[in-house]
Amino acid sequence: MAFDLVFFGGTGDLTWRKLMPALFQAFRHGKLPPGGRILAVARDDRTDEQYRAFIQERFSEVDSSKRPSDEEFAQFAALLHYRRMDLSQPTDYQGLKAWLDERGAETVVLYLATSPHLFPVICEQLGAAGLNDSKVRVVLEKPLGHDLASAKEINRVVRSVFREEQAFRIDHYLGKPSVQNLMALRFGNALFEPLWRRESIANIQITLAEGLGVGTRGDFYDRTGALRDMIQNHALQLLTMIAMEPPPSADADAIRDEKLKVLKSLKPFTAAHISRDVVRGQYRAGNVDGKAVPGYLDEVKVPTGSACETFVAIRTEVQNWRWAGVPFYLRTGKRLAARDAQIVVNFRPVPHPIFAGGSRANKLIIKLQPEDGLELQLLAAKGNSHGESLTTVSLDLDFDKAFPSERVGAYERLLLDAIAGRLNLFVRSDEQEQAWRWVEPILDAWAQDSGDLKTYAAGSWGPPAASALVARDGFAWAEEE
Ligand code: BG6
Repeated sequence: MAFDLVFFGGTGDLTWRKLMPALFQAFRHGKLPPGGRILAVARDDRTDEQYRAFIQERFSEVDSSKRPSDEEFAQFAALLHYRRMDLSQPTDYQGLKAWLDERGAETVVLYLATSPHLFPVICEQLGAAGLNDSKVRVVLEKPLGHDLASAKEINRVVRSVFREEQAFRIDHYLGKPSVQNLMALRFGNALFEPLWRRESIANIQITLAEGLGVGTRGDFYDRTGALRDMIQNHALQLLTMIAMEPPPSADADAIRDEKLKVLKSLKPFTAAHISRDVVRGQYRAGNVDGKAVPGYLDEVKVPTGSACETFVAIRTEVQNWRWAGVPFYLRTGKRLAARDAQIVVNFRPVPHPIFAGGSRANKLIIKLQPEDGLELQLLAAKGNSHGESLTTVSLDLDFDKAFPSERVGAYERLLLDAIAGRLNLFVRSDEQEQAWRWVEPILDAWAQDSGDLKTYAAGSWGPPAASALVARDGFAWAEEE
């Protein structure tokens, strides 16, 4: 299947940092369909050769295991092309169309890796140039909007040019192998389904912790904040995968219909709930991995006195029969104690303990990163004394070891899916808008009053108020137990 993949924003960070390395991995693994061309478009003048040299140089900055040898790069580079475009110029889109039409590939994937404020103009121009027929797919990178109104506006323009099934909205967390495994765990194994409900589960915790700070992106980040950057998309997508009902099939819309229902079932926020159930924090100077690091306000390009949140913890509930009353805790932050993304399903303890030492409970930990695997904690007797208390033992499954050669990175998977036209791991516009609808009362309340911003030391697990949020229900975050 011959394809043309076009990157708008072809010289930008996302393209060389994530997309090109992912494509190279797909190429190296022999997964890229034959007959492909990759075209980068950007503002400045470059030849194909100059662009190839630019990408090769940038590869020195990516993880060494993902770097091509000179020989491998020479083969990969043959796929790369470059075209100068002024994104506001209709004639430049006609030129692009002519370039694509000349070969007439069966599939054309247009990846908008630009700043999102350009999405509407690019889509309109693509439509005007006739670059929207059924063989065209458009991939939209996050952030998709800044709030509900801007997300709706982007979706309106996208829909006026493309059909929904041509729109591939990326949430790269959905491409992570362990997230796909979550679907397999829930819907490919009969074992967990009878337990996957309020009667057996005490609470669920989703943690997306980063050790890094905002780096040199202080100005971008300050306009965004952790709620928009990580909760509205990544954390809520994970929550939908955990809480959704079994879909009738593995079709994209069957899955997305169920995810949408979860988003619609989330307990809506009122002003009283926000002050009680949401904690926002900002990091101060501290130590991460034994190194002293500055506080957020001292990072480059962060405005003086900013009240932007770099940490959020939220308690919510999914209001339906399966989950009524079960707290879902979401938490994310920059400059936390570790890079650690995981979902912890805390089961209820046995109803009547007969062993010494009280009743601890089972726990299922779905590890997204840095490890990729599953850990099921069970209680066992060592058998070395009478009346001993039980000990926690783990059934630990490391997917990187179980499937060493088959694991593919998130962007690699998502790019291959976009080329193949598989929408399962992409977000539909109604899901995305519903997620904005849910977070918007929090954004509004914060815009009016920044008084409740808490601080935390870099290298900690966030403000103490985040622990209190969980402790109030009689629970604790995984690392506090
Ligand atoms: C992005 C956010 O969507 O996800 C970044 O904009 C964040 O701020 C990144 O660092 C985290 O992704 P990952 O895959 O490294 O956990």
